[in-house]
Amino acid sequence: MNDRLFIFDTTLRDGEQVPGCQLNTVEKIQVAKQLEALGVDVIEAGFPISSPGDFNSVVEISKAVTWPTICALTRAVEKDIDVAAESLQYAKHKRIHTGIGTSDYHIKYKFNSNREEIIERAIAAVKYAKKYVEDVEFYAEDAGRTENEYLARVVEAVIKAGATVVNIPDTTGYCLPDEYGRKIKYLMEHVNGIEKAVISTHCHNDLGMATANTVNGVLNGARQVEVTVNGIGERAGNTSLEEIAMIFKCHKTLGITTNINTTKIYPISKMVSSLMNMPVQPNKAIVGRNAFAHSSGIHQDGVLKNVQTYEIINPTDVGIDDNSIVLTARSGHAALKYRLEALGIKLESEKLDQVYQDFLKLADKKKEINDDDILVLAGADRAANHHIKIDYLQVTSGVGVRPVASLGLNIAGEHFEAAASGNGPVDAAITALKKIINRQMTLKEFTIQAISKGSDDLGKVHMQVEYNGHEYYGFGANTDIIAASVEAYIDCINKFKDKVL
Ligand code: KIV
Ligand code: ZN
Repeated sequence: MNDRLFIFDTTLRDGEQVPGCQLNTVEKIQVAKQLEALGVDVIEAGFPISSPGDFNSVVEISKAVTWPTICALTRAVEKDIDVAAESLQYAKHKRIHTGIGTSDYHIKYKFNSNREEIIERAIAAVKYAKKYVEDVEFYAEDAGRTENEYLARVVEAVIKAGATVVNIPDTTGYCLPDEYGRKIKYLMEHVNGIEKAVISTHCHNDLGMATANTVNGVLNGARQVEVTVNGIGERAGNTSLEEIAMIFKCHKTLGITTNINTTKIYPISKMVSSLMNMPVQPNKAIVGRNAFAHSSGIHQDGVLKNVQTYEIINPTDVGIDDNSIVLTARSGHAALKYRLEALGIKLESEKLDQVYQDFLKLADKKKEINDDDILVLAGADRAANHHIKIDYLQVTSGVGVRPVASLGLNIAGEHFEAAASGNGPVDAAITALKKIINRQMTLKEFTIQAISKGSDDLGKVHMQVEYNGHEYYGFGANTDIIAASVEAYIDCINKFKDKVL
């Protein structure tokens, strides 16, 4: 029989404590809705006493989300609990998460207290929270460095006081996997009344062991895991949601199931990374750019024959559309053909031979060949089906003159023209484009990259444009970098949900 593991997501509380990654309420609601679609059981929405913004976010998330439990964090302080209860007033399912430090470091240096007094404060906090909500979770901060015997006494006392969930945080990320597993086992075996509560893991990644510790906690009896998307969080972060979900999905013999719809993992990873401006490391398990990219010729050959030779996860299971093989100079003809077909391009064998020769030349200059390079090499006419196309573009620029651009566009068969000056030639061309399109759009990101080092080669431009609350990504490639920039902008506009003209 399979055991259900509850997923408690703390991206919006512990994850959001990363400096520079704060989200506003609207962004938090966006993430919370995605978390709901992903299937998490609990959303820790904030620490309401900490700021009016946090309070408001818990209120608004409570209104926006239906079935996951909404949880608010507090210290073992009555005022904190009052404010948390108020912030949860609209939640359909609500939980207060209260707690106190239990390691000798915390008891002595943080609270200048003693073990007995801490137990009394823990009991009082749980009882106080129980006046407001039925579902009360208690955290024993720094449980990872708390002596097991004393920890068992704390856990027993808070369960007796009414805690429905008891969280055992490895706050400093200090524990070894075996040590953390034994801690959970000790509690399961020594706490009277343990069956009345769910034991939860909450592991930090300071020594890179958060996921291993969490898995060991579950194997020893924990049935809730506290995790964040992309493993974000203070310092080295928290246990990553996607790793835990995929570990138990891949290792079915462990008999643990979650409610996670794993196909939503990649989209939410992207969303969190972009909203928090927190790039995902390329080799991050499950969601890193290279997680499913095989670059060695031997691996590519194996994967093309049978994916199971080198892959334990089907990329589509985590919401990645295709198996993005990174092509290099060692890649064969078959790998290029496969990649082109995945991009929707089928070439006659003669044309394929020719593209392969160009590919080898480019791969000699560039370490990795990506999809855009391949599309350019294959001569795929990116603009063929575009609603908006460039008819002409002329730019005058130089030293001591203000750049001027005149632009002609074909929009669904009709011709439009505009001219503009700008700070630079790209600015002039984009300003002319905006005169014709006349929409409130903001350029968010603009990167120019040369395909190879030669001055006669193609330049690639990636752009991100915000329009009407949505972000659009565009690409342009041209030997003229200004034309490539306009193409990239037009590529974004062609993707707008409402048609231009
Ligand atoms: O790491 C920790 O101990 C915490 C608690 C506040 C739950 O985040
Ligand atoms: Zn934490």
